[in-house]
Amino acid sequence: MEPLRFGIVGCGVISGTHGQALRKLEAEGLARLVAAADVDKGRAESFVGQWGGVACGSLEELLARDDVDAVTLCTPSGLHGQMAVQAAQAGKHVLSEKPLDVWIENVDSAIAACREAGVTYGGIFQERFSPAARKVKRAIDAGAFGQIVLACAETKWYRSQGYYDSGDWRGTWMQDAGVFSNQGIHSLDKVQWLAGPVEEVLSATLKVGFLRSIEAETLGVATVRFANGALGTITMTTLSYEGFPERIDVSGTTGSAMLVGDHLAHFHTREPFEEDAAAQEPSEAESGDTGAAKASDPAALSGDGHLGNVRDFVLAVHEKRQPLVSAQEARHAVNLLNMIYQKAQVGLYA
Ligand SMILES: NC(=O)c1ccc[n+]([C@@H]2O[C@H](COP(=O)([O-])OP(=O)(O)OC[C@H]3O[C@@H](n4cnc5c(N)ncnc54)[C@H](O)[C@@H]3O)[C@@H](O)[C@H]2O)c1
Repeated sequence: MEPLRFGIVGCGVISGTHGQALRKLEAEGLARLVAAADVDKGRAESFVGQWGGVACGSLEELLARDDVDAVTLCTPSGLHGQMAVQAAQAGKHVLSEKPLDVWIENVDSAIAACREAGVTYGGIFQERFSPAARKVKRAIDAGAFGQIVLACAETKWYRSQGYYDSGDWRGTWMQDAGVFSNQGIHSLDKVQWLAGPVEEVLSATLKVGFLRSIEAETLGVATVRFANGALGTITMTTLSYEGFPERIDVSGTTGSAMLVGDHLAHFHTREPFEEDAAAQEPSEAESGDTGAAKASDPAALSGDGHLGNVRDFVLAVHEKRQPLVSAQEARHAVNLLNMIYQKAQVGLYA
């Protein structure tokens, strides 16, 4: 099996996490970084100086290379959909940072383009790869929680005005949007991964440009109904000094769990569930990262989740199957995001 040859587009904060993951996958013989592109070519040059490959000054230059099999999108979120279309039309597989885009129409255009081109399209939702989250998912899928009746997601983080000023795309409706789209999108993904898709947003109140000089929301509360009838609450802000670890809790008639960051803070089932397995891996499940650093520092990522996420994408291409975080799976978060924005009448729905 030949290593999958990657080009990374966008050499900012998150790109190094991908550089690191690809370096480890190269050691496993699975993948190789061959090029990196940024409109600020100096950034691409310093990126390849650290992680290897050839520097390009644009996506188009990178797509023209025959030695690139797959493109990782690390650009501002509102460019992801359109760039995925371009990459697909050039015959490249696409791995997109979260979210697949801010606006659902752009995601659907990209899914259609990738399907038409016959390329693999996956997303990054690295928190799905933590041992704690996977255990909760297995338990729910095995029916150990009974009927899910309530699922709640909270992302209460801190981002200063300086953070928003660090890129002209940050906090803008077209390129980024606000806390639900950027920081909180992991929770919109995980709560639906665990409790099933949201069918209806019952209420949503979002405060836009509140206490930060940005276009989009810094604070919001939504209530939802899942397809199975369960209810849920979603609470998000980037104004909580100095930020709590994000929290998801799921309540069922025979079991419940609470994830705090990547840490399993609570897990109870009426019937024993994977007790032997739990005994073998207690430190892994219990010592998961609480995500406390991430609550106030956007660059504080362990990289483990990304490694698992990128590895699965590479194996999916090799094995000609859908990745665990397929575009269809990652679409759910953007769909819920747009349902919330629509209910709150903000952004494109104002
Ligand atoms: N998975 C995670 O937990 C995680 C964490 C951080 C960021 N992200 C995502 O990664 C993406 C980038 O975030 P960031 O914090 O690294 O942003 P950033 O501003 O630090 O970097 C973005 C880079 O893209 C470049 N760029 C902009 N337009 C371009 C274009 N047309 N062509 C090529 N390059 C272009 C910019 O010059 C910049 O270097 C966002 O979508 C964000 O949501 C994900």
